[in-house]
Amino acid sequence: MHRGFVFVGLVTALLGLGCGGEDAAAPVAEPAHPAAEAEAAPARQGVAAVDDARLRGAGGEANNWLSHGRDYAEQRFSPLEQVNDTNASGLLRAWTFETGLTRGHEATPIVVDGRMYLTGSWSVVFALDARTGELLWKHDPLVPRETAVKACCDVVNRGVAVYRGLVYVGALDGRLLALDAETGQVVWEVVTVDQEKDYTVTGAPRIVKGKVMIGNGGAEFGVRGYISAYDALTGELAWRTYTVPGDPSKPFESEALEQAAKTWTGEWWKRGGGGTAWDSMAFDASLDLLYVGTGNGSPWSRYARSPDGGDNLYVSSILALDPDTGELAWHFQTTPGDNWDYTATQHMILADLMIDGRLRKVIMQAPKNGFFWVIDRMDGSFISAEPYVTVTWADGVDPKTGRPIPNGSGEYRDGLALVRPTAFGGHNWQPMSFNPRTGLVYIPAQEILGAYMMEKELLDRPKHFNTGSDFAVFATLTREVVSGHLLAWDPVNQKEAWRHPYAMPWNGGTLTTAGNLVFQGTADGRFLALRADDGQKLWEAHAGSGVIAAPVTYAVDGVQYVTVVAGWGGAFALAGGDAAAQAGVVSRGIVNTYALSDQPITPALVSELLASRPEPYRGRENLFHTWCARCHGSRAVGSGVLADLRYSVGRLGESFETIVRHGVSGLGMPGFDGILDEEEIRELRAYLETRAEQDGIAP
Ligand code: HEC
Repeated sequence: MHRGFVFVGLVTALLGLGCGGEDAAAPVAEPAHPAAEAEAAPARQGVAAVDDARLRGAGGEANNWLSHGRDYAEQRFSPLEQVNDTNASGLLRAWTFETGLTRGHEATPIVVDGRMYLTGSWSVVFALDARTGELLWKHDPLVPRETAVKACCDVVNRGVAVYRGLVYVGALDGRLLALDAETGQVVWEVVTVDQEKDYTVTGAPRIVKGKVMIGNGGAEFGVRGYISAYDALTGELAWRTYTVPGDPSKPFESEALEQAAKTWTGEWWKRGGGGTAWDSMAFDASLDLLYVGTGNGSPWSRYARSPDGGDNLYVSSILALDPDTGELAWHFQTTPGDNWDYTATQHMILADLMIDGRLRKVIMQAPKNGFFWVIDRMDGSFISAEPYVTVTWADGVDPKTGRPIPNGSGEYRDGLALVRPTAFGGHNWQPMSFNPRTGLVYIPAQEILGAYMMEKELLDRPKHFNTGSDFAVFATLTREVVSGHLLAWDPVNQKEAWRHPYAMPWNGGTLTTAGNLVFQGTADGRFLALRADDGQKLWEAHAGSGVIAAPVTYAVDGVQYVTVVAGWGGAFALAGGDAAAQAGVVSRGIVNTYALSDQPITPALVSELLASRPEPYRGRENLFHTWCARCHGSRAVGSGVLADLRYSVGRLGESFETIVRHGVSGLGMPGFDGILDEEEIRELRAYLETRAEQDGIAP
């Protein structure tokens, strides 16, 4: 039974206050929920029991969220429907957990048999009890803070993978760590990049056929992209596949790279070439193909990178690889000769769609370049593409060749070009989702104008941006209107079904469920539930910080929970200036979990809960609520107006008694001398110490 939850609801009802705040485990023994108990039967085996068969069948495990996109198809669709379009308005906060970190939080939590694993900024890993939010362990890989200068887009991390008792995290500094799922201790650790170069790792690893797949980023700085596969149990390197050709005077690593080299000109290898695989992957077990999205060219400007033109394979492409060897089966390039940072690292979704009377095995992607792509995932053949946001650089996609038709307006070799989408993309890394019941894809879409101009001279600035593009032009775009929206897209007919507008871009990823719902957090710190078929907004809550990560849903003991990690940050938040500041949020990591109130709050229940509170806790709580709670908050949770006494009590030590006796003159804190005796003041201190302990607030 999820104790904190009923308790928050109870306090809310009792005192008529807003939601209670960070409650983990309240010291209340409540009556068991009969239905929930009955469903608690299946054995909880946890990460130790996550093997290849379970990962392949992850989509069928309604209660869990076993891999980054929920299953290998990365649909982010949950079959759970306890929370649905008839009752979502009744969602309440069940628990919250603060990571204690600032900066961008981009993780999709993994949930296995009642336990949750996620990352915060700086690649810190947390294991929580998924019912209560109680911290089980934390592992800080102690990323050297100097690494931050190499990170294009904040010190973020998009989450972990789990397999056979281990939790995997790619650390910002390029290490891949395998942690014991029970204790958080390091089992093995390898360095996946040349740490002398400007590589970083921010993406979530994926486990495919006993190997950990991990890419990297750094194409703003001049690196050569690749993806590596390590034996999941030993950490031994199994294969490494580069995404762009290296120095042609040396032997090519593969036939595919030899072919790719013919699409480059000049001395591209001297500046890395880019094509970094920093985020998206998907896997089709029956086709035995691993799909990897590749990033922009390095430098951005093709004039600087490959001066006499060429498609520059395999930048901005979807690659289909043999998961055992890393060998290229096919590729599809969404932006030939990328010139604008139009990465194809955006989230890819696998689905089987009926198109023109044929059931097609497709891969769907809404990369930065503004076109929504539907590709045959068996052989990479083109099916369709249409703009899902405003696109000015191309006049559409050639239906025969599947190549975009650039119209010249995006060329900036000889001057300034204003281009849509921008380098932030019509959609960035924030994951989209696909609901097989509505047939719609839910895209965190955005409209931002891009300005491109050649740098006077292509400089080499180690550890700093070397894009070939002059960023000073952005300083002139002060009146630029930027916006974002949740876009429901029909991939079969390639058209918009509905949209929900937001004031600003850089909103969170999406989750969709069999309950006809879509969930999305927003840059300005809200968390929304909308009806999946028509976009009607059903519910909204405050998430405590700007949300960029994608929500997940899972069930424990028969109760469905929805979790979203808030934590404002990432590329746009850091670089967006005024346009980003309008979010009006503070940056702090906070894991928010919601559920329906599973018991109606009746007078009988409230009496029962009060009676069940153990002494002396009950007496102390009464004392606090009689004399202090009206200013310092129910259960001593502050909402930011006055001191949060859970934090004060440890810090004040002996002076606590003095302050309570004499008050704080000039600030409005009354003195209680002559009202409360010494014993009562000690009781109050004991109550606050217990509350701090319950909420994981270290003295
Ligand atoms: C009428 C409102 C009010 C009531 C009632 C009240 N306080 Fe306060 N308290 C304040 C104000 C105002 C401050 C000073 C401003 C601040 O700390 O934010 C304060 C400060 C404090 C501090 C110092 C906090 C710090 O971090 O420095 C302590 C400790 C404290 N109160 C304890 C109590 C206790 C215990 C009770 C109940 C016996 C109580 N207060 C009742 C308003 C109140």
